[in-house]
Amino acid sequence: MSKLILEVTGLCKAYREGKMVTPVLQQVNFNLAEQESVAIFGASGSGKSTFLQLLGGLDGFDQGEVKLFGQAYSGLSDAEKTALREERIGFVYQFHHLLPELTALENVMLPLMIRKQNQAQDKLQAALILEQVGLAHRLRHKPGELSGGERQRVAIARALVKKPSLILADEPTGNLDKKSREQVMNLMLEMSHNNQIALILVTHDESFAHQMNRVLIMDDGRLREPS
Ligand SMILES: Nc1ncnc2c1ncn2[C@@H]1O[C@H](COP(=O)(O)OP(=O)(O)OP(=O)(O)O)[C@@H](O)[C@H]1O
Ligand SMILES: [Mg+2]
Repeated sequence: MSKLILEVTGLCKAYREGKMVTPVLQQVNFNLAEQESVAIFGASGSGKSTFLQLLGGLDGFDQGEVKLFGQAYSGLSDAEKTALREERIGFVYQFHHLLPELTALENVMLPLMIRKQNQAQDKLQAALILEQVGLAHRLRHKPGELSGGERQRVAIARALVKKPSLILADEPTGNLDKKSREQVMNLMLEMSHNNQIALILVTHDESFAHQMNRVLIMDDGRLREPS
């Protein structure tokens, strides 16, 4: 069996605001192998985005454990979690979260600049990945000068540029028309497959399910196999 990169056991999470408690995740168990691709479907409000946030170490949980490459989040400081996330995980969201005043090239360079390498090298690496997502002719365009599908392709390039081991994608095509949706989804599947990157994809679009290794359903805070 191939190596597990993510191990989730008994994960529970509730949101608390004053006296109001909203239970969201209830005893979630989940494993992901290297290079594996999993789609997560489920009704609105069932806890899919919350689950991805916890997998990325972006929010705390109440019970259970998340281990990324054997490292338990409960044993890591926030700084250690951030370092692990920056090294290993790329995120793609429904809304691109690109910085409006930066060009496509600069947006994709940003995650590399944290590493403080040679800037010319960063630029080359970012340009190369933008070329791979079909945007070699749009390097100097700002997000406001790109189409919705092009913006998501820049966001995919930004998630991939650090060569992560895992992509967490939360409805990456939720905001696009049918044609761009297909292009962006196919690109994401192809890029993760070709670069041996594992993928967890939250989506409402079941037409891509057959291209994934596994499909799971988030059902009221519980993760289950499709019935
Ligand atoms: N910061 C928060 N504080 C309080 N409750 C929250 C918070 N974030 C999410 N929730 C609640 O937790 C539940 C799960 O939210 P989540 O965003 O994980 O759902 P989802 O499955 O991603 O839904 P969608 O398909 O609509 O994106 C929802 O009922 C939501 O209202
Ligand atoms: Mg969501």
